[in-house]
Amino acid sequence: MRKSQRFFVYLRVGFGGFINRKEKNMINYGLPYQGSKSAIAPWVISCLPPGDTLVDLFCGGCAVTDAAMRAHRYKHFIINDISPMMPSTFVKALKGGFRGEDRWIDRETFSRLKNTDPYVALCFSFSNNRKDYAYGKPVEPYKKAIHYAIVFDDWEPLKELCPDVVDAAYAALNGVSDRYERRSRCLAVIRRQLKKKCGLPICIRKASSPRKPPKP
Ligand SMILES: C[S@@+](CC[C@H](N)C(=O)[O-])C[C@H]1O[C@@H](n2cnc3c(N)ncnc32)[C@H](O)[C@@H]1O
Repeated sequence: MRKSQRFFVYLRVGFGGFINRKEKNMINYGLPYQGSKSAIAPWVISCLPPGDTLVDLFCGGCAVTDAAMRAHRYKHFIINDISPMMPSTFVKALKGGFRGEDRWIDRETFSRLKNTDPYVALCFSFSNNRKDYAYGKPVEPYKKAIHYAIVFDDWEPLKELCPDVVDAAYAALNGVSDRYERRSRCLAVIRRQLKKKCGLPICIRKASSPRKPPKP
């Protein structure tokens, strides 16, 4: 299999969650977290009674608290979770503690830091489960190459792995600084290039649309 064809396979497998939520007008509430209620958080808070204080027990990634804060529904918030990492990580995020965070985390670093570094544990774990590394071994170099291109504007790793797509991707991202826009453009251009060069049908799993709240 040619490298570009292999890349297509990785693209299909690995880009499932790589969507432009901003463009789709979707808000991510709270932190990336397994079992997050982000998709239904506005509905959850619409069901809650009025009051001064919201108590978010089992808060996890705090999607419900985040949605309530943005809606200015309550004055005070109490958040609790059995994992001590979680409430404190949300509070750190609220204070801008992760601003500028853009490290690429490899498999070995993940194993070493997952219990102490919330960025590592949440953003680089499979389904944000904080336990298993997000990417399979064959996929990891491609993910890294794309991370370097999009986040650091360093095109060398992608050039090495996927010479067929790198020029078009570089041109599409040149001068674009918004990270969402860079991700979206990069994905679109790689799909186009691979289709053109390999004639392969492109099938990328669409992220699921927000779940509908149950009917009353
Ligand atoms: C599905 S997650 C909650 C997701 C959260 N609502 C959100 O939107 O991100 C369930 C959470 O319950 C927490 N949990 C489980 N047992 C607990 C306990 N006995 N006391 C407090 N939290 C607990 C887990 O650590 C986990 O973070």
